[in-house]
Amino acid sequence: MQRTYKAVEVSTPGVLRVVERPISEPGPGQVRIRVEACGICHTDAATINGAYPGLTLPRVPGHEVVGRIEALGSGVSRWKIGQRVGVGLIAGEDGACEPCRRGDTVNCQNPVVSGVTVDGGYAEVMIAESRGIASIPDELNSAEAAPLLCAGITTYNALRNAGLRGGDLVAVQGIGGLGHLGIQFARRMGFHTVAIGRGREKEKLAKDLGAHVYIDTAVDDAAAALQRMGGARAILATAPSGDGMGPLVSALAVRGKLIVVGVPSDPIQLSAFPLVFGGRSVYGSLTGTAIEQEDTLAFSVLENIRPMIETAPLEQAADAYARMMQGKARFRVVLVTNDGIAQSKTRP
Ligand SMILES: NC(=O)c1ccc[n+]([C@@H]2O[C@H](COP(=O)([O-])OP(=O)(O)OC[C@H]3O[C@@H](n4cnc5c(N)ncnc54)[C@H](OP(=O)(O)O)[C@@H]3O)[C@@H](O)[C@H]2O)c1
Ligand SMILES: [Zn+2]
Ligand SMILES: [Zn+2]
Repeated sequence: MQRTYKAVEVSTPGVLRVVERPISEPGPGQVRIRVEACGICHTDAATINGAYPGLTLPRVPGHEVVGRIEALGSGVSRWKIGQRVGVGLIAGEDGACEPCRRGDTVNCQNPVVSGVTVDGGYAEVMIAESRGIASIPDELNSAEAAPLLCAGITTYNALRNAGLRGGDLVAVQGIGGLGHLGIQFARRMGFHTVAIGRGREKEKLAKDLGAHVYIDTAVDDAAAALQRMGGARAILATAPSGDGMGPLVSALAVRGKLIVVGVPSDPIQLSAFPLVFGGRSVYGSLTGTAIEQEDTLAFSVLENIRPMIETAPLEQAADAYARMMQGKARFRVVLVTNDGIAQSKTRP
């Protein structure tokens, strides 16, 4: 029996290093997962640069995790050894705070946060709370399922909970890990889908993903272009740029919604006029729960939605992370472990 596992941890802000750690047993209500794949989300930057509130180092980042259960803690009856499961960012609620008591568990005030309060998936092994894991359908391989557990659920939930109707004009701003899935979801949900990027380079990709229209903010004013189309009922803002988000309120139709899912470090400047005159709104949306991950995976299978991914071996996490931060990933880098590679050879 192997006694240690490889992990990529942050012990000094900005530095990812490969370490060997002892394997521990899952506690009550927990499972131990043999990780096969883990996506690199832009939110991982908040762990790697040490900025996530409440973070203590060393910490293993990673919250788009897929693997197989290899050990069950006491009291776990819902899950079986060998079952393929996924773990996202909010991976366990306390069940006791006010939002939890009202059933709003994604907004738990004391959540288990993968890669922040507990070690995440840049590793061969991860311990997870059994109440916070999702079942992975057989139709998806582990590397392509992984990004659906954060980038996917975040955009899927934000769009399906926005009170939109088929045919509505919906824009997705920022064409990266989240945005490229947001475009696919918006199109498959039946919206008139607009992608907002900067530069011509992503136009073809955005249209291939399902966008009816591409707006290049390097040459076009997104607000004017969307107003010419009648104004957007909703804009899903994924780019980590407050400067890029604020002006989009003027691109909304009357009662339109700017849904903030990107988390820029700069402030979002807003003009009150389009908010007041026309009842437009701006609000945030945070990822989702384990059962909503299963919804995201099921819809992706149903509508043949897949993330566009590049894979990299776990040991190359630092280079892969740099690629994402430089905006070079098309569109998600997914770390794969040796177990992930071995498993993918035995699965269709
Ligand atoms: N709400 C949630 O629950 C949740 C969940 C996951 C992630 N997030 C947050 O969502 C954001 C995006 O994450 P991600 O993983 O998708 O990141 P990503 O893969 O790095 O993609 C970000 C994209 O934004 C584009 N961009 C940056 N500034 C832009 C601007 N001014 N105008 C248009 N596009 C711009 C970049 O394109 P270029 O090629 O032009 O640079 C890049 O493709 C991050 O802030 C992350 O923390 C939130
Ligand atoms: Zn994420
Ligand atoms: Zn709670």
